[in-house]
Amino acid sequence: MPLAIPNRILAKSAWILGGAVLAASLLLLWARFRSQRTFTAPDSPVAAVSDPSVIARGRYLVHGPAHCADCHAPPSEKPKVDAGEEAELSGGYALRTFLGVMRAPNITSDAETGIGRIGDTELARFFRHGIDHRGQVGLPVMMYAGLSDQDLTAILSYLRTVAPVRHAVAPSRYNLLGMITKAFFLEPFDPGPAPAGPPEPGPTREYGGYLATAVANCASCHTARNMKTGEYTGPRFAGGLVFRKSDSPQRVAISPNLTPDPATGVMTGWSRERFVERMRKGSVSDWSPMPWGSFSRMTEGDLGALYLYLSALDPIHRETVPPSKDGP
Ligand code: HEC
Ligand code: HEC
Repeated sequence: MPLAIPNRILAKSAWILGGAVLAASLLLLWARFRSQRTFTAPDSPVAAVSDPSVIARGRYLVHGPAHCADCHAPPSEKPKVDAGEEAELSGGYALRTFLGVMRAPNITSDAETGIGRIGDTELARFFRHGIDHRGQVGLPVMMYAGLSDQDLTAILSYLRTVAPVRHAVAPSRYNLLGMITKAFFLEPFDPGPAPAGPPEPGPTREYGGYLATAVANCASCHTARNMKTGEYTGPRFAGGLVFRKSDSPQRVAISPNLTPDPATGVMTGWSRERFVERMRKGSVSDWSPMPWGSFSRMTEGDLGALYLYLSALDPIHRETVPPSKDGP
């Protein structure tokens, strides 16, 4: 006799299944709704100015140490960026992550497709707190919260002078996991008090530290981090962050240890000249996530300051080994 499932049990299972589907749908609806939530933050006292020396400083930062063009140049302009030339900032580069695709927008002054209609206050809030002009937070792809008010002013002042380029870029798109992350885990960041007296640009260790942590992102790439929240999970500058090439994720690069550890530091024992020469040379592999082209534009003084700072860090012994086959 064939096994007969009593109707009573069938009905009960249907109810349970239906209930589970309904609960999952409600949860997803809630996540979708919550992922669009908006935040506020105190305004920064930053506004674009028209002083030519301030604009020149912004231009140097954007195409040099702050390497904005590395992400905000369209892919067609990438060879220029890699060659250390100034590139257009009309956006379109896509950063593919396991949480979705982050697209760097057009940051020229075009009113329709660029930042022409976004105010200085909104732009500053994005840099300081990660809250975009719509009031939402995204993945922590841009780490500039520690920029001094002067340098943020310089960057915004320069961006206002960039000729408009009409180029519509699709917004960043999160997958299911990304949407849930955005809904429940991403928060604005708190940059702490703005540095009261940011170090004067010059060949000092202090200024090198500012460049390495707040402007050029040496710290945020050369330190192991949680890529969902941006939090540091390893000792600063000791390397170990894993990068995957956007269009071929099997290609992996790992940031090396920059501290002067005799066994594991990549630049231990380098002279200042060797460091400057290495930074000017650009990438030596066919793919590197490090913005070598932009950094090659850095002044001798800025590179010297970086060298002073990095070579005086406490040595940390940390091997940065490739991830196992299963991947991190
Ligand atoms: C690692 C890549 C990367 C770098 C470097 C980078 N950006 Fe971005 N930027 C992005 C991405 C991706 C977005 C979109 C973020 C999102 O969708 O949440 C973005 C968004 C922006 C926005 C839009 C903010 C808004 O309110 O919508 C501005 C303005 C901006 N970046 C300016 C800059 C400047 C100026 C620099 C250099 C100081 C810079 N970016 C460096 C990737 C980058
Ligand atoms: C976007 C991430 C990123 C940023 C920003 C970054 N690096 Fe790197 N860096 C890497 C990765 C990944 C490697 C390994 C691949 C390579 O050598 O290109 C690397 C390699 C290096 C090397 C070793 C080069 C060699 O010849 O072996 C040095 C030195 C270095 N970085 C210094 C710096 C300094 C100084 C800064 C800040 C001015 C910096 N990096 C910013 C990711 C980054």
